[in-house]
Amino acid sequence: MRISRETSEQVRNVADIVDVIGEFVRLKKKGSNYFGPCPFHSEKTASFSVSPERGIYKCFGCGKSGNVINFVMEYHTLNFPEAVRMLALKFSIPIIDSDERTQKVDDKRELVLMALNAASEFFTNLLFSETGKNALQYLRNRHFSDEMIKKFNVGYSADSWDMLYKYLKKKSFEEDTLEQAGLIKRGDKGYFDMFRGRVMFSIKDNLGRIVAFGARRMNDDDSQPKYINSSQSIVYDKSRTLYALFEAKNSIRNLNYSIMVEGYADALTLHQAGISNVVASSGTSLTNEQLQLLGRYSKKLYIVYDGDQAGLKATERGIDIAISQGYELFIVRLPEKEDPDSFVREHGKEEFDQYIKKGQNFLEFLIQIYRTRGDFGSPSYKSEIARSLLKLISKIPDKLQHDDYFRIIASHLNLSENQLITLYKEKEVSNNAAAVKASEENITKKELSNDSLNFQEIQFIYSPKSTIDSLLPEEKLIIILALESKNNINILFDKYNFSKNLLITSAAHKLFSLIVELSEENTDINRALTEDEAIDPVLKESLILLSMLDEKQSDKWENFGAMPNENKSATIIKDCVFKLELKALEFERKRLTALLKTNSIDTKITKQIIQIDERRSQINDELIGNDSF
Ligand code: UTP
Ligand code: MN
Repeated sequence: MRISRETSEQVRNVADIVDVIGEFVRLKKKGSNYFGPCPFHSEKTASFSVSPERGIYKCFGCGKSGNVINFVMEYHTLNFPEAVRMLALKFSIPIIDSDERTQKVDDKRELVLMALNAASEFFTNLLFSETGKNALQYLRNRHFSDEMIKKFNVGYSADSWDMLYKYLKKKSFEEDTLEQAGLIKRGDKGYFDMFRGRVMFSIKDNLGRIVAFGARRMNDDDSQPKYINSSQSIVYDKSRTLYALFEAKNSIRNLNYSIMVEGYADALTLHQAGISNVVASSGTSLTNEQLQLLGRYSKKLYIVYDGDQAGLKATERGIDIAISQGYELFIVRLPEKEDPDSFVREHGKEEFDQYIKKGQNFLEFLIQIYRTRGDFGSPSYKSEIARSLLKLISKIPDKLQHDDYFRIIASHLNLSENQLITLYKEKEVSNNAAAVKASEENITKKELSNDSLNFQEIQFIYSPKSTIDSLLPEEKLIIILALESKNNINILFDKYNFSKNLLITSAAHKLFSLIVELSEENTDINRALTEDEAIDPVLKESLILLSMLDEKQSDKWENFGAMPNENKSATIIKDCVFKLELKALEFERKRLTALLKTNSIDTKITKQIIQIDERRSQINDELIGNDSF
């Protein structure tokens, strides 16, 4: 589907960038911009900034920048039409297709998603029909409420060879699409449904789009697999998907922690009990990508896996990944025979909350596990454990935490901290990938707590590009003001007869020329800077940086005293133009005096010098009247 220009235009105008980004990044206002930790690279500092005035964001750390649509594309990994559609939905903007005829051919992904959505609807309708009566009974026996069943789009696939296939075929979905969606398969006698006679759990991505199914058998027949899951597809990557994340994400953001369980049923039961910050890893192996996704909402995690040995093993694997990503991690151990679903049904929400509260720090959890597996009195076992724990600790990106953990390990293993530190320094341990990665991050490590971003720190982490570094202060101000409005450019040329030749550095020349060119073409500069592929990326980058610098909050700006912004801009323009002219005059004067030395009685040169001096004192008078800087 193609989206018309009107629609994308309107989305750009209406979708408030602070609103949109603020949903995913903790933003704090400073001056006219907002700052927060960058969602695109891991950091604790606030190098990510958003300018509502310009409708753009920019990270001074990783360099990512763009407008509201770019953000949605990047953050949710969507293509342009998907991002526009998502924003249009959020801000109630009608979507107009540019060309109805191109609709069908365009987007395979889109078609696969539509097929999955139609299938899910079909399964839900079937569940509440006569055909689904046993399945509904099965779910009710497990105490799932109708409300939850509907909210989570649980359904039933009929025990028939090709009921879904025929239904979707009638809705004019093609076989190729349905196969790609993992809904049908080709057999000897034609196409047949992948899921038959099972309870269907709809698996959604973090935007709520149905991307896959988990299908549970309804009996205890062990010859059948308990669950059959959709295989990977163009819309479903198992390792990047978390069950119930869509339903949980707001709550995770608000509570600032999440609870990870193993199964679909666990997630459903907890949500139904009112514990809504719960996601399921769907099976036992938690992946890096899943935790990266979850980390967008909160970096504090409670793992509550099944109380059996498999759950324990899975927890241990999860710890490694979560720790390496800098998660604050707690482990909750349920009684041996329980999973979160059975536990909450038997003991209720309150008792589950108590268990969560008693969640162990990952280190204490591991030490407890190791205690049950060997003899802590044995030096070799102790040393083995110490090494493996230290190796884990070395993966925690925040090194300030390491000391505390040494202390915990030392006290539990009855070792001295010095012994541990010596061990830690052994090459094998300290040389692991995470440690190297942490040191590669050339961001000044001023540790900030998540909630109190310290904006003084921004200066430390912002490393301006050399192009901007080379600008003179006056050049920089002129460029910033020219970027701000066409009116400022007019003032420059019409009122102060500005000539580009007054710009001294070549960087200023290039940057200013580009702005003027864009402005003469009546191009929306912000748009050009984020979208125009034809513009030199270095220039683009520099201009975006300059437009985000917020020079107006600086002391220099304040020196102009209280006056309306518009007058202030004009005053600053005047000041900069004169100062640049002074510099040019000084330069010219030096050249002339040098000439004079070889040509001592050249009256023409002497005259020129006198003219220069007159102009200089004229400018200086003006500048004093201006009372600036
Ligand atoms: P569980 O066996 O703990 O299932 O597997 P469950 O969710 O608690 O389901 P109930 O309560 O028995 O109905 C945990 C998760 O592992 C995956 C599923 O995602 C399941 O939710 N799994 C399990 C499979 O993919 N296939 C299987 O055969 C079993
Ligand atoms: Mn279960």
